[in-house]
Amino acid sequence: MRKKGFIFDLDGVIVDTAKYHYIAWKTLADQLGFAFTKRQNELLKGVSRTRSLEILLAIGNIEASEAQKAYWMEAKNMEYLRYIEKMTEDEILPDVPKILQFLKEHQYPIALGSASKNASHILHKVGLLEDFDVLVDGTHVSKAKPDPEVFLLGAKELGLEPSDCVVFEDALAGVQAAKTAGMIAIGIGDHESLREADYVFNDFTEIEARFLSTL
Ligand code: BG6
Ligand code: MG
Repeated sequence: MRKKGFIFDLDGVIVDTAKYHYIAWKTLADQLGFAFTKRQNELLKGVSRTRSLEILLAIGNIEASEAQKAYWMEAKNMEYLRYIEKMTEDEILPDVPKILQFLKEHQYPIALGSASKNASHILHKVGLLEDFDVLVDGTHVSKAKPDPEVFLLGAKELGLEPSDCVVFEDALAGVQAAKTAGMIAIGIGDHESLREADYVFNDFTEIEARFLSTL
């Protein structure tokens, strides 16, 4: 069996930033005069910033020019970054460091595969930037998950075949991207919504590190 590489999504897998995305998008919705619920925020998980705004504006039944959309995305991101600035290693999700440690000890290559343009900044804030051999984020890809581009680029930069990569994902769009790429998908979160993954765990505390060597 050839050695696998491991590709981590960021938001919802390594850190819980969905709550900050929610506050920032809700601020915009408030300004535009419509309600935006936590339940609706689920639709934005794993989705690019541009696509997130499109979904939000559809909820509010609002049409806008490209220039106006660019302005709103910038404003939302400024608000989001106010919360990111306060992040510390305390916000790393449970047992993520344990799994990263295991993979490093056993010399498995590790990549990030995230839609976020803020990914390297967030990893730096929580002190995990050095743990990744390869970073692929929203600044490197043009097609959003469920398109497999982000993970295929990750495999390429790790020097691995897609079939030799394992992806950790919390969003259905990300699980679909991994499967389309021909990779093993491990869903982190809700079993029902992530059932297209090869394995699903509620969180990393449920994963025996040795299990990863059997993949
Ligand atoms: C994904 C998040 O990781 O990144 C999405 O799950 C977010 O909710 C997307 O929209 C883009 O993030 P950013 O930081 O570039 O606005
Ligand atoms: Mg995610």
